[in-house]
Amino acid sequence: MRTQKKRPSMKFDFVTIASHQLRTPLSAMKWFLEMLIAGNAGKLTGRQREFLSEVYKSNERMIRLVNDLLIVSKITQKSFRLSPHPFVFEQMVASVIKEVKPIIQSAQITVVCKFDASPRTCVNADEDKIRQVIRTLFDNAVRYMVDGGLIIVRVDHRNRHVAFEIQDTGVGIPRNERAKIFQQFFRGSNIVRMRTEGTGLGLFIAHAIITASGGSISFTSQEGKGSAFRVSLPVSQKGLMASCEKPLKKKQRRVHK
Ligand SMILES: Nc1ncnc2c1ncn2[C@@H]1O[C@H](COP(=O)(O)OP(=O)(O)O)[C@@H](O)[C@H]1O
Ligand SMILES: [Mg+2]
Repeated sequence: MRTQKKRPSMKFDFVTIASHQLRTPLSAMKWFLEMLIAGNAGKLTGRQREFLSEVYKSNERMIRLVNDLLIVSKITQKSFRLSPHPFVFEQMVASVIKEVKPIIQSAQITVVCKFDASPRTCVNADEDKIRQVIRTLFDNAVRYMVDGGLIIVRVDHRNRHVAFEIQDTGVGIPRNERAKIFQQFFRGSNIVRMRTEGTGLGLFIAHAIITASGGSISFTSQEGKGSAFRVSLPVSQKGLMASCEKPLKKKQRRVHK
């Protein structure tokens, strides 16, 4: 009986320690790789640069995986904490779109943005974590698409909530697997055949972040036609609007210098 009780916490401790021990050497590798690629240790041949870029990408994947495992261990241990502060929702979405633009272009995907009338919504949440959710939804929309396609991004407002929706023309999610979509390590049977790499942690983490932020995440999908994921978050009360303005003004000044 006792051993059975101890097992889960030993496993979670192991994940936390392993993640911390792994993060430091992985960051050091990233730093040295960046210097090598920049030619700081001598001029590289095209082939050397190409190989190092592959090593760099794998290193980045490992860092992402370790970070995800850390968050998952915190969620399952119920020690997951958010650091909310007021930020402009549309601005965060726009910056994620800018970040993913090169991936979208290389995948020959068209993105259409449909933001409704309100251009600036103040949300009091953990901006980095919400950004991670939006990024996960973009990554999935791009990854689970075949031969180009269309992504429609919407931001709209309903009942004091702001919603982000991303609709794709990808492979969709099989009907009998939809109930499992936010479960840890879930990967669709249609996806496993098509894309071997992936952990099935992205949506599990996204769900935990959004629900802990007082919001909701949902989706609709049709296999072979596409999917639409929707994230809804409460809009900040009026009092916080002023604190939302301040960091933006600072940032704007920096941009125009
Ligand atoms: N836009 C999408 N289109 C089709 N399937 C999706 C989409 N987003 C998520 N899925 C399905 O949900 C699974 C879990 O997604 P996620 O948690 O991000 O893990 P991963 O992308 O690493 O597999 C995916 O493997 C895929 O089967
Ligand atoms: Mg994913």
